[in-house]
Amino acid sequence: MQNTAESRAVLLTGGAGYIGSHIAVELAASGRPAVIVDNLCNSSEEALRGIAEITGVEPVFYRTDARDKDAMREIVKKHNITEAIHLAGLKSVAESVSNPLEYYKVNLGTTLTLLEVLSECGGTGKVIFSSSATVYGVPDHIPVDEDAFAGTCFNPYGRTKYFNEQIIADVVAASEGRLSAVLLRYFNPIGAHPSGLIGEVPTGVPNNLMPYITQVAAGKREKLYVYGNDYETRDGTGVRDYIHVVDLARGHVKALEWLERHGEGKVEIFNLGTGRGSSVLEIVHTFERVNNIKIPYEFAPRRPGDIAEYYADPSKAERELGWRAELSLEDMCRDAWNAEKTLQSRAK
Ligand code: NAD
Ligand code: UFG
Repeated sequence: MQNTAESRAVLLTGGAGYIGSHIAVELAASGRPAVIVDNLCNSSEEALRGIAEITGVEPVFYRTDARDKDAMREIVKKHNITEAIHLAGLKSVAESVSNPLEYYKVNLGTTLTLLEVLSECGGTGKVIFSSSATVYGVPDHIPVDEDAFAGTCFNPYGRTKYFNEQIIADVVAASEGRLSAVLLRYFNPIGAHPSGLIGEVPTGVPNNLMPYITQVAAGKREKLYVYGNDYETRDGTGVRDYIHVVDLARGHVKALEWLERHGEGKVEIFNLGTGRGSSVLEIVHTFERVNNIKIPYEFAPRRPGDIAEYYADPSKAERELGWRAELSLEDMCRDAWNAEKTLQSRAK
């Protein structure tokens, strides 16, 4: 196969979503066009317009369910795909508890179809999978490195991540060196592209901290409820490792380059985090300071299933991928607010 731009196209499932749209931008910056497959069940074409404005190039897009094997086979063949970044799936922890079947069907189904299609093609295939630090459950040590015990997930969403990791490892092991994969365990991605043209656009009441804060800042919600102020942390509120989504997206490009160097038959796990923990109140106060906006908040009971504190040991990614998070908490808070305002004004 010739090394033309088209032959280097990367299949990006879930590429119209929050993280996927930022990956599309970073892929373009690295000279690899993305072929986006998304059924838009939790996103919209607005993200594709944002990607086009930032990169100057209209992304190749298929509005398709990533479980549709015939459609996926056709796309893979048409674009000579050998590399895929796989994000398509459902991500609400609460919904996964009330509708576990749907979560297993979608989150496992999209992965099975992708692996089947890449296996059928006969050549080599490289897959990067969006996993989550949620697979560590209550980590047996902090900072959490990739050797920490994984698999004690608290909800069906987390279990789909863990099962997908296992499925990918089994299929790669049976592929006689033709397939290889990187499993990226994300910590807490927040923020947005500095242009504000793509970002996190939750439907309904946001489940996660930063989109809730930006909606309070925008006056869409009265105040933030801080879930728990009696944890054994420095100020009593939960501590997480927040990572700028642009840093996270760049980690995917580095992971792709790593797969190209180390290739066939491997499955490797990398944490993508900063190595720093921040409490809920630290996030609120940084947001207030950077953006000069008051965020009214009230303490509320702990959220079931939440744990007190964890953050990544990202040194393996630094060592092997040559990647580290570079953007600050201030950048995350400024860019999240900028995207909320920009996307809101464009929606009018
Ligand atoms: P998102 O919902 O914004 O993006 C997921 C995209 O997948 C959406 O655009 C959605 O329309 C699409 N999709 C869902 N089901 C599909 C299907 N059957 N076929 C085609 N497209 C489908 O979520 P995100 O925050 O961008 O997360 C992306 C990935 O990263 C997900 O797999 C998520 O579980 C994982 N992840 C996210 C976080 C986080 O905090 N955001 C943390 C860890 C892991
Ligand atoms: N929080 C609040 N109020 C809110 C929302 C969150 O106080 O309105 C607190 C939580 O209690 C927690 C912290 O803010 O202490 C972060 O909560 P998020 O919901 O933003 O993130 P989580 O760490 O709970 O979960 C995220 C993703 C999951 C993923 C997990 C582990 O949402 O998909 O990280 O990677 F599995």
